[in-house]
Amino acid sequence: MTTTVSHRIGALVLAGLSMAAASPPASASPEEDHRIRGWTVAVQLCSRCHVIGKEPQDGGRVGPAFTTIAAMPSTTGLALNVFLQSHHQWMPSVRLDRDEMDAVIDYILSLKPPEPAKP
Ligand code: HEC
Repeated sequence: MTTTVSHRIGALVLAGLSMAAASPPASASPEEDHRIRGWTVAVQLCSRCHVIGKEPQDGGRVGPAFTTIAAMPSTTGLALNVFLQSHHQWMPSVRLDRDEMDAVIDYILSLKPPEPAKP
């Protein structure tokens, strides 16, 4: 179930915070591993300007929250690929290797709401 997964990711995220750059727990599945890697990249390179997790954080960030980005119908893997490889007016270009980029894209897409929000 999605909620279980996000709770697990939440727990791992907390673990990751305290372990800083340590490698992710060995028990994670390859998919989860990849997302955790993406999250790690996001913490290091994107969290300065974006709220990268599901929890609201203090304001003052210049970029839209990753959950907001993920919820936009226009956000697809392809769109993110293009965005991250192009130059933007407000967001500085980020230099990621192929794998980091895939991981961070995977992470952002994992924040997509499972289905359209119910009223
Ligand atoms: C120095 C601040 C800064 C950093 C660092 C930064 N961003 Fe951004 N980002 C912005 C701003 C500001 C915007 C909104 C304006 C724009 O689209 O250029 C934005 C927009 C975006 C969007 C597009 C949302 C849309 O409207 O389509 C994505 C995706 C994104 N950022 C991903 C990332 C990722 C992934 C990283 C880390 C690898 C990152 N950003 C790092 C400031 C930043």
